[in-house]
Amino acid sequence: MSLNIVIMAAGKGTRMKSALPKVLHKLAGRSLLQHVLNMTEGLGGARNVVITGHGAEVVEAAVAGPGVQFVRQMPQLGTGHAIQQAVPAIEGDGTTLILNGDVPLIKQATARRLVEACDGKALVLLTIHLSDPSGYGRILRQGGTADGNVLAIVEHKDASPEQRGIKEGYTGMMAAPTAALKRWVSQLNNNNVQGEYYLTDIVAMAVAEGVPVLGIAAPNETEVLGVNSPVQLADLERRFQREQANDLLEAGVRLADPARFDLRGTLSCGQDVEIDVNCVFEGQVSLGDGVRIGANCVIRNATIGAGARIHEFTHIDGEAQGVKVGAGALVGPFARLRPGADLGEEVHIGNFVEVKNSTLAKGAKANHLAYLGDATVGERVNYGAGSITANYDGANKHRTEIGADVHVGSNCVLIAPVVIGAGATIGGGSTISKNVATGELSVARGKQVAIAGWTRPVKKR
Ligand code: UD1
Ligand code: MG
Repeated sequence: MSLNIVIMAAGKGTRMKSALPKVLHKLAGRSLLQHVLNMTEGLGGARNVVITGHGAEVVEAAVAGPGVQFVRQMPQLGTGHAIQQAVPAIEGDGTTLILNGDVPLIKQATARRLVEACDGKALVLLTIHLSDPSGYGRILRQGGTADGNVLAIVEHKDASPEQRGIKEGYTGMMAAPTAALKRWVSQLNNNNVQGEYYLTDIVAMAVAEGVPVLGIAAPNETEVLGVNSPVQLADLERRFQREQANDLLEAGVRLADPARFDLRGTLSCGQDVEIDVNCVFEGQVSLGDGVRIGANCVIRNATIGAGARIHEFTHIDGEAQGVKVGAGALVGPFARLRPGADLGEEVHIGNFVEVKNSTLAKGAKANHLAYLGDATVGERVNYGAGSITANYDGANKHRTEIGADVHVGSNCVLIAPVVIGAGATIGGGSTISKNVATGELSVARGKQVAIAGWTRPVKKR
């Protein structure tokens, strides 16, 4: 049976007090709307119909993709009016699932329950029992009992004091028989307190036609909470982070404190991984068996090999290219690995060392205050404190090749393109602009002079 998925995202989000449309605000690194779109993958819908209005161009540009169709709602005259605009885009005699672009944590299992219960025949409402359901449409049931048949939804602003006492609210998500939905929304009016076309008025229409109406309770509050303000967004962010942290703990990852852990993307972990407090993981990160991450690290798009140690305050950002850290490597504290950094096994990268677009073979070391850019570094190379590759001539980047077992002294400048042969030694303080042959010592610096009898200047009185 054909499934249409409609996501309402035209509302303004005034309470966000932001120039950015509400549904584009980020939760765990992805927009609210993107969370909903991702959730629908695999539900079986032909595509997602997204209703845009406020900031339509920006919203559409942000989430455009092969499975997404946009319908504009201008002006926004209510949720029923929103679905009226979507009518030409929904088809078939199956089911239409209606979701909200600002309710990001709805799980696929819950959405699937709505679709299956509807089966193109029943109107299925996702509901939630709340101690304070203020603002929510209330589910009116026959006899006022929890299992009485659903009769209607009454919006909070239109509800009588007695109806406001009902604790079961409508979450804003439903699954409806497509053909009937189209008919019902064409019959809506705006004779209500807010002067809006309420989608929720279709419930009474379904009941009048004898169409079965089911209210299904959401498994928990987090899945159905919407974002209307920065406070609510921050609250949902913490709930989501806590959930992700718990999943990792359950899988055996040892997080020092699940309340001080942030994952904005995907993190895959081997066995016996330890992560200290205040670390942020972004994009795709993979940690091998026994990896230990010190406190206050930020790691984005990187693969860390088994047994590697990333010490405190290290920043790793692979951007699109990625970063690889080999098994048993030691990185940090205060190290910076940039796109294309590829560290072999047991490489050591120490404090205030920056590596970009460079390959370091097994056992190479750069322990202090150094820069390696566009370099190929052989096995067991020792790269001295304060040394840098001058890889950029102001217009183009050039490579530096350093053979195995090279010893680069402290405070050297290697002006690329340049090749240092295996086993060569570069004296401290050298500026190297010519290739160095295998095994040779090269020193390129001013000679030390001693001036006998020199006296220091003294202050004039
Ligand atoms: C709606 C429901 C209410 C439910 C509540 C749950 C109606 C009439 N009421 O109320 O029963 O308890 O959600 O949060 O449906 N939107 C549009 N176009 C519009 C108006 C809204 O696209 O013209 C979108 C909004 O961007 C949002 C969603 O629809 O994603 C809900 O709109 P909102 O104004 O928050 O509805 P409520 O009045 O809260
Ligand atoms: Mg709302």
